[in-house]
Order: sequence, then structure tokens, then C-alpha cells
Amino acid sequence: MLFDTHVHLNAEQFNEDLEEVISRAKEAGVGRMVVVGFDRPTIERAMELVERYEFLYASVGWHPVDAIDMTDGDLAWIEELASHPKVVAIGEMGLDYHWDKSPKEIQKEVFRKQIHLAKRVKLPIIIHNREATQDIVDILREEGAEEVGGIMHCFSGSAEIAKECVDMNFYISLGGPVTFKNAKKPKEVAQEIPLEKLLIETDCPYLAPHPNRGKRNEPAYVKLVAEQIAELKGIPLEEVENVTTQNANKLFNIN
Ligand code: NI
Repeated sequence: MLFDTHVHLNAEQFNEDLEEVISRAKEAGVGRMVVVGFDRPTIERAMELVERYEFLYASVGWHPVDAIDMTDGDLAWIEELASHPKVVAIGEMGLDYHWDKSPKEIQKEVFRKQIHLAKRVKLPIIIHNREATQDIVDILREEGAEEVGGIMHCFSGSAEIAKECVDMNFYISLGGPVTFKNAKKPKEVAQEIPLEKLLIETDCPYLAPHPNRGKRNEPAYVKLVAEQIAELKGIPLEEVENVTTQNANKLFNIN
């Protein structure tokens, strides 16, 4: 069974054909998925979906791009939702220096507040990082995020940084980019990080793997990510499936 650890089935791109998308995922062998909410509407929709489908779980948090909009009420609401039995993580959270909607200092503050929250509710965290690797690593260390651990989502950094994150109790999650021909770093990460520390994801509807690059991504394509990792490590696909699924179950405390 494949476990897609990061999906946005709560995105409007799936409004028209969610049922078909889910059946294709099932056919491809995807048995579990975590629906990630990152603002009011996407969290509400994620909670609706996990109530409706037994094989879906939720992660709730606030995206760094919108950090400037997060109120104390939003944070309290996320903390309340954390006690729901199907909420298995807090996030996505982190830093995104690509877009300048939210100033860096506000992003950092909102990131730290969510790490504190995760420690209170004892759930792992899902990290979004865009062009902010060093600040992320520093904050995780300063805030003792190791205590809850979590996921470096759609990791695109070097194998060296990946190892630093693994040492801080984080899993490295690989997505579509590991299948791109020119993606040197994710391929190195796939080879150098032990399978026991890897997870797989689509981040759908974004970042579709080769040969679907540029199209809408969907959970069925997580198999392409697993196949690429199997090829890079020179091991059977089944082993990648089994171990990454065990890793996810353990991290999310499912079963
Ligand atoms: Ni995402």
C-alpha cells in the first residue's frame, strides 16, 4: 500500500471530479493520504473530507505566504481541531521567501507560534520551505522541534541539509521533482537518505511527476515517485512502498 503524505484534495482543482480522482488513487494502490489545510477554507474542506472518507487524514496549519493574515483566533481554532482523532499533524507551516506578501519577521513569528502549538498538542509538524532553508533549520533547532519531529515536505535541498533534518527527528518527503531529469539534488537525497527516513507525496494538484509534468497532479501519481526512488536505490518497488508506508503510520501514529 502506498501512503501519499501530502495532498490538497481540498483544493478547488478537485471540485469537479473528486470521486474519479479517489478511485484512480485506489487503483494505483494508494491506501492512505493526508489532506493538508493551510488557511480557513482549506482547513474546513480538509475536515469535511476526513469525516467522509475513512482512508483520509488531515493536517492543519497556516501557510507562511499568508502569515500576515493569521489571527489569535485562527491559532486557537487550529489548536482545537488538533484534538480531532483524524488530525495527525500540524502544518503546513514554515517560511516562503519567494513571495513577499508576508514580511519575513511575521513569517518567523507565525512559524514559531505553530511549533509551540504542536508541542502543546504533541503532534508532528509539516514544513513548507521555499528559499529559506537556513532560517528554517535555525528555527527548528532554536524551538526544539525535535521533540515532536515531522516532515520536510517536498524537500528540494541538498543531501547534507537533509541529513541535518534527519538528525533533528524529521523525515524527508520526496515528491514529483525527484522524477525530473534535471533534478540533481532530490535524486542525491533519494540515494543518500536511508529508506527508513523517507516519505513519499504528490503535493497534488501541484508538481506532477514526469511524464505528467505541468498537468494537474493527483494521488495516483505518487506511484511514479515511489518507482523513481526504487530505481535510484536499486531496490524493489514493493520495499519502497512498505517502508515509506510504515514510516508514515509511525509518524502519524496511525494503527
Ligand atoms: Ni502543500
